Amino acid sequence: MKSIVILVSGRGSNMEAIVRAAIPNLRIAAVISNRPHAQGLAFAASHGISTAVVDHTAYPDRTRFDAALAAAIDLHQPDLVVLAGFMRVLTDDFVRHYTGRLINIHPSLLPAFPGLHTHRRALEAGVRVHGATVHFVTPTLDCGPIIVQAVVPVRPDDDEARLAARVLEQEHRIYPQAVRWFVDGRVAIGADGRVAIANAHQAAAGWSVPPLEEVSG
Ligand code: GRF
Repeated sequence: MKSIVILVSGRGSNMEAIVRAAIPNLRIAAVISNRPHAQGLAFAASHGISTAVVDHTAYPDRTRFDAALAAAIDLHQPDLVVLAGFMRVLTDDFVRHYTGRLINIHPSLLPAFPGLHTHRRALEAGVRVHGATVHFVTPTLDCGPIIVQAVVPVRPDDDEARLAARVLEQEHRIYPQAVRWFVDGRVAIGADGRVAIANAHQAAAGWSVPPLEEVSG
């Protein structure tokens, strides 16, 4: 059994997708928000998941907010911390505290379009494909080892909302997938800093961080 804590700031549809996926051997220990009125909190509570708020406006600086947030997370001793539309930049200390057990979903095909307004920027750049990325979080924003990506076409008549909706549909598919891989012990960061995904066979045999060239499937 693995446990996770999910951090949200708003709508929480990715958190919802992870909850609805009912991943075997996964316990969602808590959903925590920096915003008291985040929509996602109500959904989590209605599904019997414990919720908490660490309101960033109550703290004088990022360091103290992040310390309070880490304390709220660590109460649950999660195996993995899942950022799901958590709209706060985290301090390096916070990120290092969760090295290898902090993941994020970003609405672009990283390393293209890190940061905000990814759909607008994709349209402005005229890219033909766009998508979403699940990655480990490292101190450099939107830059950590990539676990899984999904690609969508950009259509000539797309606007930001249409493109965002097409990407979001894929987010709801790949985020639960990535969490499932983690729970099944199939995700590891190799010596070269890239993520390796074991196949089910290797995972069952107690696979751990093999050299990348030995990983298949
Ligand atoms: C998603 O597009 C996610 O990729 C980004 O923020 C949005 C959050 O949406 N990080 P939701 O709160 O999961 O509905």
